[in-house]
Amino acid sequence: MTKTAHSAPDLAPPPTLEVRGGRKNFGAVHALRGVDLVARAGEVTALVGDNGAGKSTMIKCVAGIHAFDAGEVLFEGEQTHISSPADSSALGIEVVYQDLALCDNLDIVHNMFLGRELKKGFRLDESAMETRAAEVLASLSVRTVRSIRQHVASLSGGQRQTVAIARAVLWNSKLVILDEPTAALGVAQTEQVLQLVRRLADAGLAVVLVSHNMNDVFEVADAINVLYLGQTAAQVRTRETSRSEVIELITSGSLPAGAAAAATLSTTNANGSTTA
Ligand SMILES: Nc1ncnc2c1ncn2[C@@H]1O[C@H](COP(=O)(O)OP(=O)(O)O)[C@@H](O)[C@H]1O
Ligand SMILES: [Mg+2]
Repeated sequence: MTKTAHSAPDLAPPPTLEVRGGRKNFGAVHALRGVDLVARAGEVTALVGDNGAGKSTMIKCVAGIHAFDAGEVLFEGEQTHISSPADSSALGIEVVYQDLALCDNLDIVHNMFLGRELKKGFRLDESAMETRAAEVLASLSVRTVRSIRQHVASLSGGQRQTVAIARAVLWNSKLVILDEPTAALGVAQTEQVLQLVRRLADAGLAVVLVSHNMNDVFEVADAINVLYLGQTAAQVRTRETSRSEVIELITSGSLPAGAAAAATLSTTNANGSTTA
């Protein structure tokens, strides 16, 4: 196979992440049977699909927890292989999982630097970490936490999500993937987290938002990627589609003839080949 970097017809930069024809089997289970994903800097790309469609498997492959069995991964236009979480974070990919993995008994600063603490000699550099944590929260316009020395146990669900997202952007990340960040939140907290998701993209990051919630998707996403039974059913611009079309794609994997041509910008056939 010859590998060439994606060359766009215009001068637009290549997507931050592009997956072409990704496949993943778990024994006899064909979890991913040809998935595509394009995530661009400055944009929120929603990844939607019914339970079992392959969303979590796809992001775990991008995060290096699993490896794709086949398919291509391009990062900033360059062919790459992600075979471990270290590979993924070295590229600048951060994933905020649904269970967040925050430590209740530590404060916000220590949670943001968990496992990557700044040191001064043999000791933790508390003031440098505190300054940097405060800068990141300020840059994301986070005003909902009273003190960054608060224990995470005392935070609301939305605040915890905020800390997890801020932790993800602390490391010069280029792509942040959020797995259902609003699933457990009330209305006001959902709104705050969606605004934060939007600000991540506005700050120039590529953001992938895994979501079941059409309100969330249509509020913040620039593009929508629909998975259906382990395959990419469609990649569409949000402004060129509608909730009913996206729901149709989620539930049946396609649109009635006629509507499909108008709504679908890019599709992939079953063997995963794409036109470049
Ligand atoms: N570790 C695993 N071992 C076996 N099957 C798996 C594993 N992870 C996911 N699957 C299967 O892969 C398919 C896609 O699952 P998943 O990626 O979790 O979907 P989604 O996140 O869209 O709900 C499902 O059929 C699921 O049962
Ligand atoms: Mg899932």
